[in-house]
Amino acid sequence: MPTKVIIGAQWGDEGKAKIIDILSEKADVVVRCQGGNNAGHTVAVDGDVYKFQLIPSGILYSGKKCVVGNGVVIDPEGILSEIDGLVAKHIDVSTLRISSRAHLVMPYHKALDKAKETIAAQDGKDIGTTMKGIGPCYMDKAERSGIRVCDLYHEEVFAQKVRENVKVKNAMLKYVYNQEIQFDAEEIITNYKKYAERLKQYVDDTTVTVYEAIKEGKEVLFEGAQGTLLDLDLGTYPYVTSSHPITGGACIGAGIGPTMIDECIGVMKGYITRVGKGPFPTELHDEIGDRIREEGHEFGTVTGRPRRCGWFDAVIGEFAVRTSGLTQIALNKIDVLKDLEKVKICVAYEFNGERIKYFPASLEDLELCKPVYEELEGWGDISHIRTYQELPESVKKYLTRIEELCGCKITMVGVGPNRDQNIIIE
Ligand code: GDP
Ligand code: IMO
Ligand code: MG
Repeated sequence: MPTKVIIGAQWGDEGKAKIIDILSEKADVVVRCQGGNNAGHTVAVDGDVYKFQLIPSGILYSGKKCVVGNGVVIDPEGILSEIDGLVAKHIDVSTLRISSRAHLVMPYHKALDKAKETIAAQDGKDIGTTMKGIGPCYMDKAERSGIRVCDLYHEEVFAQKVRENVKVKNAMLKYVYNQEIQFDAEEIITNYKKYAERLKQYVDDTTVTVYEAIKEGKEVLFEGAQGTLLDLDLGTYPYVTSSHPITGGACIGAGIGPTMIDECIGVMKGYITRVGKGPFPTELHDEIGDRIREEGHEFGTVTGRPRRCGWFDAVIGEFAVRTSGLTQIALNKIDVLKDLEKVKICVAYEFNGERIKYFPASLEDLELCKPVYEELEGWGDISHIRTYQELPESVKKYLTRIEELCGCKITMVGVGPNRDQNIIIE
């Protein structure tokens, strides 16, 4: 059975969870590889809506192993409340496995995230993070002062690490960020001890779980969070997240080699959205942008913030295909563009009098890029359609043009939020 990495190919919220949920029916294992509870993954099944932040979106099918890999940063309080929420809905979570190597989000990470953003906002320099402590947690990981899940089960080691960190973080909060908030190491130790007891049954060496599943020929899905342009290396730095949402991130974040991946699926929307700050060449500041936001319910899953909306950008699409080696595109939310006389695709940027087709590294250059649009015919309501053949010709032309420009085939088309509102293109 093939292994598939499913990533966001834009700025996140492309509908990755919906695709994971659909593919999970035939899969055996679903693995989250990076990010944390900054992610908000929505699955709609027969009128019920489920929101996941740390738990893989495959959990709705019973018996599927759901792995939170070593590359994820785990807020124990967050994951426990997700577990409780699922149990209350009678969903079996006994198949959950949490990597002993994953780093822990600590209360001071959240306070530092908030402090840095609040101060930066005074000069308009905030990133617009989810304030979940993701950046500060990955900073500690890279600095080698982070605390991992396995540390929870070595009481003295854990206590020592918390005490050392609290000393440094309290000083940062007080002297660098001028904040009143101070943390009590002993209180954190006591609280995390309780979390540790509850989480123990799920903790494992997940690199073994994943490797063995692949060796046994089981179908393994790797569930990306965020999106390509939020990648720490390849995204619109510094307006990015602190992990690697591209397909390469799945290898590191799950502890597998690249030879073990068969398919790389990039999830895109038929248009594009962004939450938080940073450049966005095809952003719409008009009534079409508002209409897409309303029709597509484009409000953040985690923070409720309105998402910025714009036309499909094929420069970004090609960038994602190239940097993630995509073998398939799943194109969601085509239904949202209904009843527009014309739809537009950005085919290139005009930069300093020249046409460019490559996404620039410098934000200053990107700000100067003007999208070059191609106009295509619009379509009506397609939310009831379930086969490619039944799609209007205008939709087929839109899909073909996106395939040509991005250099990758579209194999799935989303026509609504529900599990069944999806067209498979053979
Ligand atoms: P993720 O973070 O990539 O998993 O995406 P989110 O869950 O944050 O946002 C995607 C939103 O679009 C969710 O509310 C989904 O239920 C919804 N959605 C997914 N696919 C489609 C689609 O094809 N059409 C419509 N109308 N909604 C969709
Ligand atoms: P899913 O998995 C969309 C954005 C934030 C902010 C930037 C940095 O649901 O697609 P962070 O809290 O990570 O330090 O914030 O990244 N961001 C997302 N945007 N979807 C997400 O996840 C996101 N996770 C983070 O809005 O601009
Ligand atoms: Mg989301």
